[in-house]
Amino acid sequence: MTANPNPEPLHGEVYRPAPHVVLSANVPDPEAVYAEAARDLEGYWARRASELEWFKPWDRVLDDSKKPFYQWFVGGKTNIVHNALDRHVRTWRRNKLALIWEGENGDLRTFSYHALSREVCKFSVVLRSMGVSKGDRVTIYMPRIPETWIAMLACAKIGAVHSVVYGGFSVEALHGRIEDSASKLIITADGGYMGGKVVELKQIVDEALKRTAVAENVIVVKRTGKPVNMEAGRDFWYHELINLPLTRNMGKCETEAMDAEDPLFILYTSGTTGKPKAVLHTHGGYQVGVYATLKDVFDLKEEDRWWCTADPGWITGHSYIVYGPLLNGATSFMYEGGPSYPFPDRWWSMIAKYGISVFYTTPTAIRGLMRFGEAWPNRHDLSSLRLLGSVGEPINPEAWRWFHKHIGKEQCPIMDTWWQTETGGFMITPMPAVPTKPGSAAKPYPGVAVDIVDEQGKPVKPGEEGFLVLKKPWPAMLRTIYKDPERYVQTYWSKYPGMYLAGDSARRDEDGYFWIIGRVDDVIKVSGYRLGTAELESAFVSHPAVAETAVIGLPHEVKGIAIHAYVILRAGYEPSEALAEELRKHVAHEMGPIAKPEKIEFVKSLPKTRSGKIMRRVLKARAQGLSEGDLSTLEE
Ligand code: PRX
Repeated sequence: MTANPNPEPLHGEVYRPAPHVVLSANVPDPEAVYAEAARDLEGYWARRASELEWFKPWDRVLDDSKKPFYQWFVGGKTNIVHNALDRHVRTWRRNKLALIWEGENGDLRTFSYHALSREVCKFSVVLRSMGVSKGDRVTIYMPRIPETWIAMLACAKIGAVHSVVYGGFSVEALHGRIEDSASKLIITADGGYMGGKVVELKQIVDEALKRTAVAENVIVVKRTGKPVNMEAGRDFWYHELINLPLTRNMGKCETEAMDAEDPLFILYTSGTTGKPKAVLHTHGGYQVGVYATLKDVFDLKEEDRWWCTADPGWITGHSYIVYGPLLNGATSFMYEGGPSYPFPDRWWSMIAKYGISVFYTTPTAIRGLMRFGEAWPNRHDLSSLRLLGSVGEPINPEAWRWFHKHIGKEQCPIMDTWWQTETGGFMITPMPAVPTKPGSAAKPYPGVAVDIVDEQGKPVKPGEEGFLVLKKPWPAMLRTIYKDPERYVQTYWSKYPGMYLAGDSARRDEDGYFWIIGRVDDVIKVSGYRLGTAELESAFVSHPAVAETAVIGLPHEVKGIAIHAYVILRAGYEPSEALAEELRKHVAHEMGPIAKPEKIEFVKSLPKTRSGKIMRRVLKARAQGLSEGDLSTLEE
C-alpha cells in the first residue's frame, strides 16, 4: 500500500488498499452496502441480525414510537451468550481457541470455546447460588485476566446486569459506581500486575465498601497470591466457589432467554456535568451491532488472531475484547500488563510470538511507543499483521504514518474508528476496501447518518467545523441512562430535536471524509481515557486544603490531552511544591492513576460567569496564550 498524493476523485494524502485486500475483504464492495443501508435501514439490520441465532425471531426491527427511547428487534428472544459461546460449542469451533492470555509476569493461559463455556457455566451456577438473578446488578472490578471475561459472560448468561469498573480507577470512583448501581455483589481479584507493580484491587474494594452498605458479598480471584483481608461471611475465594461439588457438576447452567430489549450491562462514563452516568445497553441490538461492525471493519476471518489492547473496563473492551470477537467465533489475545514492561518491545514481541494478524490500539500508545524508536519493533517479525486499528482520540497524522510504516510495514490498512460508550459500536470508520487518509476516521458505517451542524442545527459547509450529530437510530445505541431517563433525553436529544448530540466537534472534507477535532464539553480525554471535570474537581475538594478548583485539559505530546488544575486553598494553607504533590497523589488515590494531574497552579480566584459558572474556556485560552474570546458574561 503506498501513499498516492492526488488520485481522482479523492483529495489530499490518500492510501488505497491493495487489490488482494479488497478482493478478500468481508465487505469487498462497500459502496453497495452503504447504498443498501441508506435505501432500507431496517432491512439492512434485519439481514445482519439473521446471521445470528434467536430463540424467537423479532416482530419488529425498529420501534420508534417512543423516541428517543428507540427499541430494536422488538419481541425477539435472545441472549448474547448464546451467540457468543453456546452456538459455537455445538460446532467444530468447540476446540478452537477463544482466548490466549499472557500475564505481565509471563504466565500463559489458553481457553478453547469449550473450556471458556465450561468456566462460564460453573461461575453462572455460583452466581445463581449466591442469589444473583435476572436484572440484579453486579460490579466487576478486575485486572486484565481471563476471569474478567468469565465474570461478564456469567452475568449475561443468567440475565444479571454487569457494571464493570476499570481496574485503574480507585476508591471514590469505585464507591460511587457501586452505590449508584446498587450492586449486591462485587467480583474482584487480590491484585493484578501493571507496569511492574501490583495493583491492590481488593484493598481498594475494602476501602470503597467502608463508604457504602449496598454490597453484600465479594468474590475474590487469586491472581498475585499476595495476602489480602478476607471478611468472614462477606468475602469468598473464586477458586473455592468454582470447585464446590454443585458448581463442578455445573448444576443449572442453561442460558436465560432474554427479551431483545432486556438490559445487558451498564457502563459508567463521564459527561458534561455532575456524576458519571450509567449508559445502558441491551441484549438484542448491542449484539447485532458489535457483531456486524467487527466483522466488516476488522474483516475477521476464521484463521485470524485478534488483539485489541484496550481494557475490558471500557466500552472498547466490552464490545471488541469480549463480546464482538466471541460473537464472530474469533481467537483473541489479551495481555495483562503495561506496553513497555519490562522493555518497550513487549507488545511487538507478543505480536510475533502469537502471530497476531489484526491489531487494534490507541493513538496514545502509538505515540508513547514511537518515542522509543523503530529499532524496538524492527527486532521482531511482525509479518503476521494484515490490518491495524486506532480508537479513543484523534490520531495525529505523524503517529498514523509511523504506525503504518514501522508496524504495518506499509502493507496494513489502518481502521481509525470513531465511536463512543453510548454508541456501543463503530460509527465512523473505514472498512478495509475503503481508501484512508491519515487522521481521518473516513466515512459513516452503513446505516449511520452523521452530520456536522452549527449552533442552530443547520449543516455546515465542507471544511467548516461544527457539532457532530447522528440523525438516525442504530441497533447498538444506548437505550437510556440507568435510573435517569430524563438525563438521557437532556444530554443527547435536547439541543437539536431528533438528533443525537455526540459532544464532539468535527469537520467533513470535500470527499465526505470526517475529521474529528475533539470534545466540545467538559469531558477530558487523557490518553484516550474519558474523564469528567466534575468528577476530578470533586476528588480535589475532598482534600481538606482545597476550597475550590477548576480542571481543564491541555494538549500533551504523548497523552493527547493532560489534566491541569487551578486550585484555591482554604485559609490556613500556603501554596508549596510539597502541597501540589500531595494533591496530585490525593486525586490519584481517589480517582486512579490515570487521573493524576499533570500540573497544579495555586490561584486566588477563578474566572466565573455572573451566575457563578467557572469559565474553563477562558482558563484554557489563557494557558495556551490564545485569545480569550467573548468575555461579556465574565463576572467583574
Ligand atoms: O471524543 C471522541 C473520542 O472518544 C469519545 C468517546 O469516548 P468513550 O466513550 O470513552 O469511548 C472511547 C472508545 C470508543 C468520543 O466522543 N474518540 C473515540 N474514537 C475516536 C475519538 N476521537 C477521534 N477519533 C477516534 N477514532
